[in-house]
Amino acid sequence: MRVITAGRFGGLSLAAAALLYGSAALAQSPAGDAVKGKTVFARCTICHTVEPGKNKLGPSLANIIGQKAGEVPGFNFSPAMKSSKVVWTPETLDKYLTNPRTFMPGNRMIFAGLPNPADRANVIAYLKKPVK
Ligand code: HEC
Repeated sequence: MRVITAGRFGGLSLAAAALLYGSAALAQSPAGDAVKGKTVFARCTICHTVEPGKNKLGPSLANIIGQKAGEVPGFNFSPAMKSSKVVWTPETLDKYLTNPRTFMPGNRMIFAGLPNPADRANVIAYLKKPVK
């Protein structure tokens, strides 16, 4: 009897692990949609553009993916951002945009974050390839 019960639990936790792994994998490599991302980016446009050289309250985010943090010319970055040694990849952007303050304490971006993983994936897709 005991063995059967243990077996059932084993099966259940395997299924749960598969589910957990599935959602973790989804969060890790999200397939974003740049068109939807443009709508999400509307929350950033008070401070950011995707036009090269056009800084506002925040730095231009043109071609930001692959760049080192805090290096956009003509923008006065915080010491935290400048010294962070972060390179902006879809993964680091995903973490930063989840909660800018916890990912990089002391950075000056006044933004609560995007709690929805799909919003983050979509806005990252937009930053990769801004659609008109
Ligand atoms: C209220 C203004 C504001 C909003 C809204 C805002 N940001 Fe920022 N952002 C900033 C500022 C200011 C910085 C520079 C922070 C620093 O120097 O510490 C920054 C920095 C960044 C950086 C790092 C740039 C670099 O060159 O290293 C990224 C990436 C970024 N923001 C993305 C976004 C995205 C995406 C959104 C919308 C989801 C957003 N931000 C919303 C003000 C804002």
